[in-house]
Amino acid sequence: MVQPPSAPVHQPRGLRGDYSRAAADYTVDQQWQRYTRAEHAIWATLYQRQIDLIARYAAPEFLAGVRALAASASGIPRFEDANRVLQASTGWRIVAVPGLVPEATFFEHLAHRRFPVTVWIRRPEELDYLVEPDVFHDFFGHVPLLTNPVFARFMQAYGEAGPKALATPGGLGMLARLYWYMVEFGLIRTASGVRVYGAGILSSKGETVYSIESPEPQRLDFDLVRVMRTDYRIDEFQRTYFVLDSFEQLFQACYNTDFAPMYRQYGAQPPFAADARPA
Ligand SMILES: [Fe+2]
Repeated sequence: MVQPPSAPVHQPRGLRGDYSRAAADYTVDQQWQRYTRAEHAIWATLYQRQIDLIARYAAPEFLAGVRALAASASGIPRFEDANRVLQASTGWRIVAVPGLVPEATFFEHLAHRRFPVTVWIRRPEELDYLVEPDVFHDFFGHVPLLTNPVFARFMQAYGEAGPKALATPGGLGMLARLYWYMVEFGLIRTASGVRVYGAGILSSKGETVYSIESPEPQRLDFDLVRVMRTDYRIDEFQRTYFVLDSFEQLFQACYNTDFAPMYRQYGAQPPFAADARPA
């Protein structure tokens, strides 16, 4: 048995998942046969209302991943089915976890092309907002892009950057902002306009529309240092999104980049506010 990771400070209650059967690397069996009909129905509700929206708003690479995975619309997918697709496309696989895992464990999984996916699904009253990620967010939001070779390689490089961030003052916060803005809330330019690829957006009905249509948030060109120095809000739609020209741009900015000089230069400084305008 492993200890659950400490809950984020904004969330005084304990984490929801059952960590009692987790291995040392926090993995568990998905135990797909234990999902109830009601739990599959929650998946179906979330899936059906999101699938039409993403056809309009998601990046083509994300939609290609959704098609490749061919996940069930009517129930929680079996991770082993997705793993056959991932193995054939990029060599990644997903591993089942009880919920959030400690940063060092998370980085270790990514560095070895394993993406941790939470096994439990939200309750009916939580369709629109959830404090901890569940299987819908983790699977529907994150797994499709793991079929994309460039994005998948970026994710591995992100995991490989983890130990140095943990060892450098200010590093973890800066690396976390890169994940927040470029994995959870990223936008990308396409021939037909700006589209969404971030998992936090694409697993949220409201933010999928807001991120593209609303005049309120600012949409800034991707800038690695700016991203890593910009604070974020966890309890409302984003005030700032960063827009990539391509996944290659993100990969090139991060692959073989030593972030340590940036941590040393900026790690001790307060970040830019989430809605700060560029100088
Ligand atoms: Fe996520």
